[in-house]
Amino acid sequence: MANPEPILKATGLSARYGHVEALKSVDMHVEEAELVAVLGPNGAGKSTLLRAIMGLVETGGTVHFRGKALPRHDTVAVASQGIILVPEGRGIFGPMSVAENLQLGAYRLQGGKGEYERRQARVFELFPRLKERLSQVAGSMSGGEQQMLAIGRALMADPKILLLDEPSLGLAPRVMTEILEKLRVLNEQGLPIVLVEQKAPLALKLARRAYLLSLGRIVAAIDPREVQSHDELARYYFA
Ligand SMILES: Nc1ncnc2c1ncn2[C@@H]1O[C@H](COP(=O)(O)OP(=O)(O)OP(=O)(O)O)[C@@H](O)[C@H]1O
Ligand SMILES: [Mg+2]
Repeated sequence: MANPEPILKATGLSARYGHVEALKSVDMHVEEAELVAVLGPNGAGKSTLLRAIMGLVETGGTVHFRGKALPRHDTVAVASQGIILVPEGRGIFGPMSVAENLQLGAYRLQGGKGEYERRQARVFELFPRLKERLSQVAGSMSGGEQQMLAIGRALMADPKILLLDEPSLGLAPRVMTEILEKLRVLNEQGLPIVLVEQKAPLALKLARRAYLLSLGRIVAAIDPREVQSHDELARYYFA
């Protein structure tokens, strides 16, 4: 059977910060309901790739979403199509409450109260702890709880595809596993996900496909089923 049209497709995507060319003609795609990992060492360009998709950096090349070219300098327009980024460092508003952070995620909501509550119920089902902590100041929560809030806030925007930048950063292994398990649930519900991770073995447990970035280029497309050992993964990294 032929592959369906990718939901997201970047072609010749490049990005620069002044003189630094951080992303060099990257081709990547995500199919419907797929979880795709983007791996690579520090400075490889992983965050830049997500920022480039969102139109947050100056880019060359194209990004198509459901077959239509995305605007390149209008992040609000990109997000309003349901392409939602959970940034590195989570980007939650520390002085605000959990409830207020969730509200911010739904700022474009037009479906009224019923729709708001439907989305919030989905978030609470996934992260019951957020429901218990609604009035807590977000900045006073643990790292894992803050990551849950960041994902919860993204879900309040009713994403059609979720871009996650190192959700495991700074978390204890047990918390990390818990968060990744939630991502698996979301993906099994049909949500396409791009998961940027430095911790390759974790990401490969979830991903159907993975791209390896190095110095701004995709240097390998990895089928997680074919990566049998850490040694093999290391070969990809240091090839
Ligand atoms: N705002 C910026 N100004 C200048 N250079 C930048 C900026 N942001 C990133 N870079 C450079 O672009 C390159 C790619 O950075 P990027 O943050 O995308 O890497 P990364 O793979 O996400 O790394 P990490 O795993 O450390 O998060 C690096 O060389 C970095 O120094
Ligand atoms: Mg990064």
